[in-house]
Amino acid sequence: MDVYKAVTERQSIRAFKEKSVPKSLLKKIFETALRAPSWANSQPWEFAIVGGETLQALAEELFELGQTEVPGNPDRPMPEKWPDLNNERIRGLGKKMFEAMSIPREDKERRKEHYSRNYRFFGAPNIIYIYLDQELGVYSMLDVGIIVQTIALLATAEGLGTCFLASSSRYPDVVREKVGIPKSKDIVLGVAIGYPDSKDASNKFRSDRGEFDEFVRWVDV
Ligand SMILES: Cc1cc2nc3c(=O)[nH]c(=O)nc-3n(C[C@H](O)[C@H](O)[C@H](O)COP(=O)(O)O)c2cc1C
Repeated sequence: MDVYKAVTERQSIRAFKEKSVPKSLLKKIFETALRAPSWANSQPWEFAIVGGETLQALAEELFELGQTEVPGNPDRPMPEKWPDLNNERIRGLGKKMFEAMSIPREDKERRKEHYSRNYRFFGAPNIIYIYLDQELGVYSMLDVGIIVQTIALLATAEGLGTCFLASSSRYPDVVREKVGIPKSKDIVLGVAIGYPDSKDASNKFRSDRGEFDEFVRWVDV
């Protein structure tokens, strides 16, 4: 698949088919993705590709926790506050996504139900955890961003779907215990991967983007 097509077609997939992904295909994607650049070729990333009963047990435990008031304590937390402009975009995402899924604002139950599906990785047969040694600072997060998008694009080219899931690393101790990730590592992100269920309304939704001029200016070009 042409790289422009892969970039344009990739979207967050929030409903997966039960069909499993061949291990050989996951390996092929990773072997290629590992060509991603990193600072001074430091290759700071480590991955766990999780499936089967471990994934099921993990999903159930995260799902149960997600129903409680237990606050998340991610190893690499997201900001608590966002600037107004970004906040507006974040709110716009939820509004449009729920509109596309025909879930009205006042239907708190169905909204909650959608959010809780995060913890079951939207039914994906695999979840990929990316972790960094705790000694690695914030700078290595750039490298993580680059490689996870590379994985997502390769997955798209293979007819697979992905969803980056901050929610999957909200309770890192549970993940650490189930997946066998040492305490010395920070769990950065999970990426759900599998075959998209294209019939599901959530996957028919495409998120907006701002215009070129909103983000880019020419300087002496
Ligand atoms: C670091 C990161 C964490 C994310 N975490 C979640 C998540 O927990 N749940 C979710 O449904 N989507 C999550 N997303 C997906 C974003 O909402 C999505 O990428 C964004 O709305 C743009 O839509 P698109 O991916 O379909 O182009 C995450 C994306 C990124 C980059």
